[in-house]
Amino acid sequence: MKRSLLVLAAWTLLLWLWWAPVNAALPPLIIGASVGRLLQMSSEALPVYRFWSPVLGKHFYTLDEAEKTRLVSQYSRVWIYEGVAFRAFAGPAGEGLAPVHRFWCASSGAHFYTLDAAEIDKLLRSYAGIWTYEGIAFYAYAPGRQPGGTIPVHRFWSGALRTHFYTTSDTERFKLASGYAGAWDDEGAAWYAYPAQAATTVAITKGPWIQGVAPDSVTIVWQTDVAAESVVQYGVETPEASTVADSSATTLHRLTLSGLAPGVIYAYRATSGPASRAGAFRTAPPADQPFRFVIYGDTRTNAQVHRQVAAAITGSGPDIVFHTGDLVGAGRNYGIWDTEFFAPAGDLLLGTPVVPVPGNHEYAGAGPPWFFYFFDRPAHESWFALTCGNTRFLGLDTNVDYSPGSPQREWLVQEFQSATYRSATWHIAIFHHPPFTSTTGHSDDTTVRNQLVPLFEQYGMDAVFSGHSHAYERYLYNGIHYIVTGAGGAPLYGLAADTAPPVRQFGLSAYHYCVVDADPSVGTLIIAATDLDGHVFDTVALSK
Ligand SMILES: [Fe+2]
Repeated sequence: MKRSLLVLAAWTLLLWLWWAPVNAALPPLIIGASVGRLLQMSSEALPVYRFWSPVLGKHFYTLDEAEKTRLVSQYSRVWIYEGVAFRAFAGPAGEGLAPVHRFWCASSGAHFYTLDAAEIDKLLRSYAGIWTYEGIAFYAYAPGRQPGGTIPVHRFWSGALRTHFYTTSDTERFKLASGYAGAWDDEGAAWYAYPAQAATTVAITKGPWIQGVAPDSVTIVWQTDVAAESVVQYGVETPEASTVADSSATTLHRLTLSGLAPGVIYAYRATSGPASRAGAFRTAPPADQPFRFVIYGDTRTNAQVHRQVAAAITGSGPDIVFHTGDLVGAGRNYGIWDTEFFAPAGDLLLGTPVVPVPGNHEYAGAGPPWFFYFFDRPAHESWFALTCGNTRFLGLDTNVDYSPGSPQREWLVQEFQSATYRSATWHIAIFHHPPFTSTTGHSDDTTVRNQLVPLFEQYGMDAVFSGHSHAYERYLYNGIHYIVTGAGGAPLYGLAADTAPPVRQFGLSAYHYCVVDADPSVGTLIIAATDLDGHVFDTVALSK
């Protein structure tokens, strides 16, 4: 007890020693004096510097060079310089620019910035004892008045930390929105400014990849190293036929192409500044057209093998690809998404929609679950249903609750009872944890077996694909085919004995993918497990 009191006293003293110069560094400024001192008129967009104080747990932003220099030279223990947040103006140098006012709260140690007249009025009139007005910090564009090339500066509020945070970064926004850094409320775009780095050189760092494929629309997604505009040209004969564009600068680009014809191949080109990449996709075909899909999974850890598997899948020419999860080794580690997924699968992603479900490794590591950033699904609703041709595909997240009463289970039962589900010829489920498996890595997932298998039997599922076990396995249980396809790059598991019913019908420990052909003209669905040489080592032929 005594020891903890001593520690507390020492921390209090330390905080006070650090705190005192912080307040000295940033004294409340008189309006007129501060405007004069902080700002010198310039028609150029100037850098707004961002600082972080681990002592206060707060951020601070300034355009004032003298203030920046003072913090860096005298208070670097308290305020850590984080770089240029965005670029704004020192005066009302152009149409649409408005002053962003700065307030200081001594009790919380937080600064607050706003250009909203009602907010300013409220703070000055009703909270003058709490918030000290410090003057105009810089000039920026009010939402709705921003020119092209500017980016939204998003404002977040944390009740727990009693502070606001401002960012232009797509990845930082996702971190806060995912709940990784605590509870933050997204308060929307506070103002618009120019990106920290002028987009004179832009490189595409990931993608494009194709999302949300439907009979009449798709979404093209790509990432650039600096914020830039988004343009997609597309057409049946050449990519130049139609254009969709968004002039607001961003690093994660998403453009939806709509009004497309079903089952048609379109060429496209995604462009940001001088950087562009071209690909092609086929819209979801109507129910009477044949189509080919591929299912594979567990691509983590061995990027070279994943590259080979992805190249083989590309060569097989599928219309759409599904992934059974464990795309990467630790999905909360940002950098791994490039090395283990987007780089090895780059050519595949460019020309084929790849629709994954999250595996357990997507939730591994330290950081936000980036799966949901790249694949644009609500972080707590990571399941999906889509129709391609005559087949209804259901993707589940077996990492989160699917027991009776859970949101995922309720969604699933509703889907089973829908006219869309019932009218499809074939019904395919995809999720990570297999109800039936016997390898050196894993055995049956009894929760899936107890809670999902009865539903599949009740609602006429035809085939179920899982991963997690790094091998190929096929089971037949109560008329439904259960296939484990979890060998897309991850270290292979050996097959273990399987004597308890249902007994595995076929198994092979080899890198592979499953090619599936649906042909409505003859009523067949043919599953061909294929190795890296293109050799089909197991086949299931279904017909209706
Ligand atoms: Fe797994």
